[in-house]
Amino acid sequence: MNASDRPLQPVAMPEDWSPASWRARHASQQPVYPDETALAAVQGELSQLPPLVTSWEILALKKQLAEAQEGRRFLLQGGDCAESFSDCESGLISNRLKVLLQISLVLVHGLRLPVVRVGRFAGQYAKPRSTDTETRDGITLPSYRGDFINQPEFTTEARVPDPRRMVKGHARSAMTMNFVRALIDGGFADLHHPEYWDLGWVGHSPLSNEYRRMVSAVGDAVKFMETISGEALHNLNRADFYTSHEALLLPYEEALTRQVPRQWGWFNLSTHYPWIGMRTASTDDAHVEYFRGLRNPIAVKVGPSVTSEQLLRLIDVLNPDNEPGRLSLIQRMGASKVAEKLPPLIAAVQREGKRVLWVCDPMHGNTESTSNGYKTRRFDNIRSELEQSFDLHAANGSRLGGVHLELTGENVTECLGGARELTEADLERAYRSTVDPRLNYEQSLEIAMLIVRKQGQIAAPAKA
Ligand code: PEP
Ligand code: CO
Repeated sequence: MNASDRPLQPVAMPEDWSPASWRARHASQQPVYPDETALAAVQGELSQLPPLVTSWEILALKKQLAEAQEGRRFLLQGGDCAESFSDCESGLISNRLKVLLQISLVLVHGLRLPVVRVGRFAGQYAKPRSTDTETRDGITLPSYRGDFINQPEFTTEARVPDPRRMVKGHARSAMTMNFVRALIDGGFADLHHPEYWDLGWVGHSPLSNEYRRMVSAVGDAVKFMETISGEALHNLNRADFYTSHEALLLPYEEALTRQVPRQWGWFNLSTHYPWIGMRTASTDDAHVEYFRGLRNPIAVKVGPSVTSEQLLRLIDVLNPDNEPGRLSLIQRMGASKVAEKLPPLIAAVQREGKRVLWVCDPMHGNTESTSNGYKTRRFDNIRSELEQSFDLHAANGSRLGGVHLELTGENVTECLGGARELTEADLERAYRSTVDPRLNYEQSLEIAMLIVRKQGQIAAPAKA
């Protein structure tokens, strides 16, 4: 066993924790189920169903995230804001995978670093909402909280939280995972065949020439390596793919939290890399309590209202042993606030020697509504927050180690701007998201290219 294969140092299991200890705390953003007995029955059923991921995969990811913290990998995390049950369909799943593979090819080529690929899928079915109820024409109903909980239609039946939906969501997540695993194992991610990832609708994209150049440069490099080594590079056939979701709906997460043979502690086996959303990240509340006892690598969203003191307390609760790879901070400040809000947080983390992976979510701090009533994001703001974040970390002796994006492989028009300069009028054409606006394929690829350019500038400052 060489040094890098050695298991990460075991850390102490909190004695006062159990998968259900969150129940003694205040849990926000939870549905009110009308029938407690039905809820308990569903939890019992879920706790007997097979898990979706394994502890080996979880620990392998943790190790990769520890390497990303040291600058030896870059994290790409992306997918839908909210999955829906009806989107559990082969075309949508494979298109999303294609976009993620294309972005990671651009990053691998440009950054010369391995990329940790994490999808926001196979469980991204529960959403935080700004209000518990929604009123239309004098009628008030519970808000839509994601397909795990209820349905988006504005009727009483559709909006009543139904615990059986958790069982359905578990099955959809398993089908999604199964298809992704089969594609990857079958060679879909093979670097010898990047043409597998072409998206039919793209046509004459303004970015396609640059992308094609990268594909052929990577292809040449692969052939060169195979020529000098005299054999095929088999590990290029495979790409590890991990899953993540916001672990918001605690009864579901609790039921999938398990112990496994020959491992100490507890794993959330519904996903590799759960995260805590911004609205549920109070240190004393239920979500933080639940997360602190897991052995998974975990992430927490950090918004503009978080102070340095709050952040350090949160880090102490979630990663008391300063374990490598354990904790990622997903900053989501907004383009106009990041320059003011981020540096004190970076300084506090640096000063206290906390090991974290900083990841930029340039989406959620930049959401706005248009005059024609669409929830959108401007590409220029997304770009600006990302570019500023790279610079702010570099200027403060830190490193931005990853990016968290809401994207899709479909030809949607949900975010404004980008290479095709989408306008407010374009939003009407193909706006499909039920929650937040996503980058389409071209906009996603453009983000990948700008990350590469930005990192190049940071790694090689202009010569005097
Ligand atoms: C999300 O990631 O979809 C989300 C709701 O983010 P945040 O918690 O950062 O607002
Ligand atoms: Co979102």
